[in-house]
Order: sequence, then C-alpha cells, then structure tokens
Amino acid sequence: MTTRTLNIAMIGHGFMGRAHSNAFHQVGHFFDTPYTLKRKVICGRNQEAVRDMAARWGWDETANDWRAVVDRKDVDVVDIGTPNALHADIAIAAAKAGKIVWCEKPLAMNGAEAGEMVQAARQVPNLVWFNYRRVPAVALAKQVIDEGKIGQVYQYRAAYLQSWGVDPARKGVWRFNKSDAGSGAMGDLLTHIVDLALMLNGPLNEVSALVHTFAEGREVDDTAIFTGKFANGAIGTFEATRFAIGMKNRNRFEIHGAKGALAFNLEELNHLLYYDATLPAERQGWCDLMVTGPHHPFSDNYWPPGHIIGYEHTFTNTLADFLKTLANGSEFHANFEDGLRVQHVMDAVEKSSQTRSWVQL
Ligand SMILES: NC(=O)c1ccc[n+]([C@@H]2O[C@H](COP(=O)([O-])OP(=O)(O)OC[C@H]3O[C@@H](n4cnc5c(N)ncnc54)[C@H](O)[C@@H]3O)[C@@H](O)[C@H]2O)c1
Repeated sequence: MTTRTLNIAMIGHGFMGRAHSNAFHQVGHFFDTPYTLKRKVICGRNQEAVRDMAARWGWDETANDWRAVVDRKDVDVVDIGTPNALHADIAIAAAKAGKIVWCEKPLAMNGAEAGEMVQAARQVPNLVWFNYRRVPAVALAKQVIDEGKIGQVYQYRAAYLQSWGVDPARKGVWRFNKSDAGSGAMGDLLTHIVDLALMLNGPLNEVSALVHTFAEGREVDDTAIFTGKFANGAIGTFEATRFAIGMKNRNRFEIHGAKGALAFNLEELNHLLYYDATLPAERQGWCDLMVTGPHHPFSDNYWPPGHIIGYEHTFTNTLADFLKTLANGSEFHANFEDGLRVQHVMDAVEKSSQTRSWVQL
C-alpha cells in the first residue's frame, strides 16, 4: 500500500499525551491505513519533562511555545491535549493554518467558544477525542440499538463515577481551577456520558439539573446530576461525580427498551450485557457478551476471541476510524460539531442548576 506521511505536532504531554502517543505508535501496527504518522514535534512548558517524554515516546523535536508550532509548514496535524482553557485558541489557530485538528474533550469551556471552534474548523478535518465511542462493547451496543433489537427506548441511565476529588491533597491540579478547566465533573466526566447518550439515543430536548461542590473553597463542581428528556421520548438520568468513594473510573450506562435492555461498565470494558425480552419468559435473563470477536467491532484488528483489550485501544480505534474517513472523504464522528452539541447540554445543565428550573435545548 502506498502511504502518505502525516507530521503531527502534539501540544501537551501529560496523561493524554501518553495515551495519544501510544495510539500514534500502534495504529499502523494493528490497522491497514494509507497514512504513516510521524511524531514530529511535542510541545509543553517544562523543557526537561518535554525532552523526557520525547525520548520515551519517539518524538523528533521538542518545543515550548504552541504558537511557534501550529503553523509550521512541515506540520499536517495539530493534536491538543492541554488543559481545557487552551483548546479553543490552539484549535482555531491550527484550523486557520489549514491543519487537521484533533482536540481533547471537553471541546471548549462553553457553547459559545465551541461554536467559534466549529466555524474555524469548517474547512479542515477535525476530531474530538470522545474515545469511549470506540470501546468495542459500546460500538456493539450502537449496532444492537440501530438494528431495533431493544425497541423503543424508555429509560437511559448513565453515570460516570470517580472518587479522587475527595482527596484534599489533590489541591493545585489544573482540574480544580475554573480558569483552566471551566468546570469540574461536568467538563471532565459528564461530557463523556452525554456524548455517548447523544450517539446511542439521539438528541436531548430539555434538562433539569443539580450541580454541586462539596469541597470548601473549590472553584469547580464536584458533582453534576440531571434528568433529561430525549427527542425519542426516552427519559434519561445522568450522574457525574468525583466524590463516589469506592468508584475509580466507573463509566456505565443501562438502556431499557420495549424489547430488551443493554448494560455497560467501563471497568469491565470487554463485556456488554444484553437482555432479550422477546424470548419466552422462562428463558429471559441477562446475557453477558464478551465483545472480543468473532464478528465484533474492531475484533479482527487485535487478538483471537477472549484475548481482552484495554483503555488504550479506545484511542487507537478512534484514530484508525479517523484515518479511514480521511482517506475515503467521509465524515468522522465525534467531530467538533458533536463536541458543540455536548457543550450545549453542559450550558443547559449549568443554567438549570443555577435557575432551579427545566431548560430547553
Ligand atoms: N479522553 C479522555 O478520556 C480524557 C482523559 C483525561 C483527560 N482528558 C482531557 O485531556 C486534556 C488534558 O488532560 P490531561 O489529563 O492529559 O492533563 P495533564 O495535566 O496530565 O497534562 C496537561 C498537559 O498540558 C500541558 N500544558 C499546559 N499548559 C500548556 C501550554 N500553555 N502550552 C503547552 N502545553 C501546556 C502540560 O504541560 C501537560 O503536559 C484535558 O482537556 C482533559 O479533559 C481526556
């Protein structure tokens, strides 16, 4: 296969810098793609840390000022893994320079900012790293729903539960600063489960929310909970929290339809639970599908059935699908418009909590 080289500039080299670097390495090993990804330049503020990261993950060059790299002629893609407040400036500058833009979630600090990013990126291929869409079990859930197997959806229940916010020693991280993060559990966790809900069950029409901060003096929310009405008539309940002691990273949903139900939990990400309510009553029960093939999303790209995969593969899968759409000219999701839709829900959740009322979308 002839391949074209894409030179990547990655801004930010923390948790997501590692997850993305790994995907850049792995995608060509596991997927046939007409692109060779070159880890051209990695950018961060701490010179020594950036150099360490470049050596460990095989980046050619290091840089300290993102403005100096986004419009370099030898850069094709700008990948953004910085704190949320920087996403818009970097993405807009990169899009104006004609680069492909990959941006971490939440896309922006609010809907207005996300709208500007959508406008700026109209002419360039773009991606938001809503990586949980590409957990094979989640992709299978989408297939099952789209085939009508669970019928009309009545209840959509989602929660993203973490516990680290309780720890007073975690002061000082950018995630607690409003000016860096914009919000707390909302931008960090709620955006993920809202993106999955919009993908799996369609648009939300209105929300009623409670957003709360437990830690004294903290600028951002620790928990955000809302009830929503979907356009398809389903009722949704959503809970995102950094105060769920005992829960490390429990991103889960349960979807109940007229003909069946689905349940997923990221901490058991190779599994999807399926309940077929069309079976004779005496044979109905939860069926535990191990989503590692055969015939499961992404399963042909990895190991034989039963040989499980992990968190990092969700980024590789996302990238593989993006490169496929880049090659064949089709539309990739989640893109900036998907990120904007999520941001509109976040704005409505915030407004609903502030005004103690239902807010239309
Ligand atoms: N998709 C996911 O599952 C997922 C998971 C975690 C974080 N995220 C998102 O990824 C983004 C980064 O989060 P993280 O956990 O990697 O944070 P992190 O703190 O681990 O890393 C942030 C990086 O940004 C760099 N940075 C900060 N200011 C900069 C500047 N002015 N110029 C260049 N670099 C700068 C820091 O040096 C650091 O390398 C956030 O938007 C977060 O919401 C997404």
